[in-house]
Formats: sequence, structure tokens, C-alpha cells
Amino acid sequence: MSVAAIVPAAGSGRRMEQQEKKPYLHLLGKPLLAWVLAVLDKTPEVHCIIIPVCPGDEMRCKQEIVDPLGLRTPVVIVAGGAQRQDSVRNGLAAVPDTCDTVLVHDAARPLVTCALIQTAIAATRTHRATTLAVPVKDTIATVDPAWTVLDEIPDRSRLVSIQTPQTFAKDLLREAHRAAVVDGVTATDDTSLVSRLGIPVAVVPGAYSNIKITTQEDLAIAAALLEQGLL
Ligand code: CTP
Ligand code: MG
Repeated sequence: MSVAAIVPAAGSGRRMEQQEKKPYLHLLGKPLLAWVLAVLDKTPEVHCIIIPVCPGDEMRCKQEIVDPLGLRTPVVIVAGGAQRQDSVRNGLAAVPDTCDTVLVHDAARPLVTCALIQTAIAATRTHRATTLAVPVKDTIATVDPAWTVLDEIPDRSRLVSIQTPQTFAKDLLREAHRAAVVDGVTATDDTSLVSRLGIPVAVVPGAYSNIKITTQEDLAIAAALLEQGLL
């Protein structure tokens, strides 16, 4: 098994409400993307790293983030697309033939650990598609446009919050992305694209500390988790 890691980093981070794009925002003095790359680089099972970035930002990413880290793992920077799904698809096109397994991990989850990445990779021995996830803590409801709760509230004990890393047999993920383009389907993660083909996606226990930086308070929460050694 040879693993290529795709790190989608081509988003603008609209919900952060900052001028700077999210992957370049600092957490304890280091860009979010740099945290992720450093952890992937320390994971011996990862053979190469592919980073989709905003078109035109390839040089910036290389000079500001990748080069200063002095990584041992080969890195390829590619142009991402308008949606996360387009960015991952562009990343997939750059996966070398020598890699048969793809791990996708968002640049927006800087608190991932080597142990979590290794857990995800270990699961690929028995499953063609996996995702990290944690049980939801809140009750989840669907609302209408006026924010009135619709229908029945789903049974919380059967709900999980999907995280990354997610892992896939390379050919399966390529097939899922091809089918999504043909069918005009857009999804916010890759397991949705695999699942709609009828292929089971195994859920691997993640960690509550593996948060996604989405709004401004998430940066403060991440800093506190790091400072208190709570990863
Ligand atoms: N992403 C990407 N290409 C896009 C959109 C998102 O590679 N066109 C990446 C982001 O950089 C991020 C990950 O996908 O690492 C998860 O997306 P999200 O947290 O939604 O980030 P943004 O899309 O940047 O944020 P927002 O939705 O608030 O604009
Ligand atoms: Mg987004």
C-alpha cells in the first residue's frame, strides 16, 4: 500500500470573515496549512502530499508555507477549483501511479495528529472507503427557510459528525468523482460521493479535538487545546 495525501486548501474561508484566506491564517504563529503539512510529514506511511490551492496562489503557497518547512515528503501544489469537490478532483489527477491509496485531509483541520492519520490509514487494509467521525453532542434538526424545525428530530445516538482524514482506494475515489461530474452532483465531502455509488464507507472513531476551523472562535478554541495539551 502506498498513500498519497490530498490537502484541499483552495477555499477562501468566507465564514471566517477575515481578509486572509483560511489556510494562511495563523494558529500560535504558524499557518493552518503548515500545521497539517508538518503532521503529514511526520507520518511515515504518507508517500507524497498534493495541495490544491486557489489558482494563482501556487507560488505563494510554495514560498510562504511549503519551502520553509523543509519537508522530507515530496509535495505537489496544484490549482484547486470553485468548490472543495473540484479541488479534490484536481488533486486526484496529480496522484502518482505508484500510489494506490488516497487520504484526504482538510487544511482547515490543523489539530490532526499522526495517530489519527495512522488510524485512518490502518483502516484501509479492511475498507475501501473510510472517514473519521465523532458522535454528535447536540441534538440535530432540519429547519425550513424561516428557521422552523421540520419533521422529526433524528435519533442523536445514530448521528455522527464527519471529520477528515478520509481514505479511499484511489480507483474508487476517481470513479466516484467521475460519476459526480456526470450526474451533476456536488457534495461537501468525498465519502458522500462514494456512498451514493452504493459502496459502504466505514466510520473510524475520530477525536473531538480534531476540529475544523470555520468561524473566528474556532481559532481561539484550537489555540487553547494546543496550549493545554489536549490533543
Ligand atoms: N476547499 C478547497 N477548495 C474550495 C473550497 C474549499 O480546497 N473551492 C478546502 C478549504 O480550503 C478547506 C476545506 O476545503 O481546507 C474545507 O472547506 P471549508 O472549511 O468549507 O473552507 P472554506 O470553503 O474555505 O470556508 P467557507 O466555506 O467558510 O468559505
Ligand atoms: Mg466551504
